[in-house]
Amino acid sequence: MRPLPGRWVYHDGEFTPFAEVRLPPTTQGLHYGTGVFEGIRAYATPGGEGAHLFRVQDHYRRFLRSCRLLRIDPGLTADELADVTVELLRRNGDQGDVYVRPLAYKLGLLPGTPPGVNLGGVSDAVTIVASRLGAYAPPGGLRCLISSWRRPSRAALPVQAKVTGAYVNNALAVEDARAAGFDDAILLNEAGQVAEASTANVFVVRGGRLATPPADADILPGITRDTVLTLAAELGLPAAESPLHPADLLLADEVFLTGTGIGVTPVIEINGRPIGAGAPGPVTTHLARRYGQTVRAEREDTHGWLTPVQAGCEEAVANA
Ligand SMILES: Cc1ncc(COP(=O)(O)O)c(C=O)c1O
Repeated sequence: MRPLPGRWVYHDGEFTPFAEVRLPPTTQGLHYGTGVFEGIRAYATPGGEGAHLFRVQDHYRRFLRSCRLLRIDPGLTADELADVTVELLRRNGDQGDVYVRPLAYKLGLLPGTPPGVNLGGVSDAVTIVASRLGAYAPPGGLRCLISSWRRPSRAALPVQAKVTGAYVNNALAVEDARAAGFDDAILLNEAGQVAEASTANVFVVRGGRLATPPADADILPGITRDTVLTLAAELGLPAAESPLHPADLLLADEVFLTGTGIGVTPVIEINGRPIGAGAPGPVTTHLARRYGQTVRAEREDTHGWLTPVQAGCEEAVANA
C-alpha cells in the first residue's frame, strides 16, 4: 500500500497519526511472513448520503480464523474490530469509497522464548489502515495469463487463511503476468486444476450456468465469491462449485473474477485467446451490476451485509 500521511491509523490499541507509527526492525512478521490480513471495502451511496462497510463482520470472522492458525491474539472480537473500523473511518472523515487493511502480526520474542521461527512465545500486534480508493479494475475487462507458478497446496500452507508470507506466491505470479503484458495471473493448484487469480476467485459461465472451483481446490474462499453465489441463486442462475481445468477457462462463454478489491470483473482474454466474444458477457455484466447495487445500498440489505459509516466531525491529524 502507499504511505498514508495525514491519516489516522489504528495501531497498538490506539488511534495514531500515520507518521507516528513505528515498527521495530526486529518485527517477527517481517522476517518470517507470520502475519495475517484482510481487505475490506466501504462504498459510498450513489446519492452521497453516506457510506457502508460491506460484510465487515464476515471479513473479521475470517481475520480471527487466520489469527488462530498463526496463534495471534488480536485481543478484540469481530464486533469490536468492526467498531474500531467504523471509528477509524469516522476519524478520517471518510464518506467515499475506502479500502480497509487490517493486519495482525508477530512482533517480538517474549522473555524466556529462544530465538527461532516461533509462533508461540512471540508478542502480537494489530494495525488497521484505511485509504481512499478510486476505480480499481481496468474498465473493459482483464487480460490474464495462466501462471507457471502453482498455488501451494493446503498440505503446505493454510491456503484458506490470508497469511502475509504466502503472498510471495501471488506476487511472483503477478510479476510474471505483468512483465508479459497481462493484467493478472490465474494460478493452477498442484493438481493442475484452476485455483484462483492473484487476489480474486475465478468463475466461468457456460450455457448460462456458473461454475467456480470448490474450497478444496486450494482456493481462498472469498467473501465476494460467496456473495456472487448468493446473488446468482436469487437471480435463478444455476451455479456449481466444481473443479475446473485450464481448458474450461478457454472454452467458457464468459470468465470473471471476484474479490473485495475488484468486485465482479470480466476476463476478456486468457493466454492471448479471447474468452467468448472477447468482451464482457451478459451474465457477468448482470452480476456485476447486481453486486454494485448491493454494495452501494441501492437494494434492500436483506442479508445484513451493510454497516453504515457515520459521518464524523473529523479531527485533523496534527501533522497533516
Ligand atoms: C488469494 C486471494 N483469493 C481470493 C480473494 C478474494 O477474496 P474476497 O472476495 O474475500 O476479497 C482474495 C482477496 O482477498 C485473495 O487475496
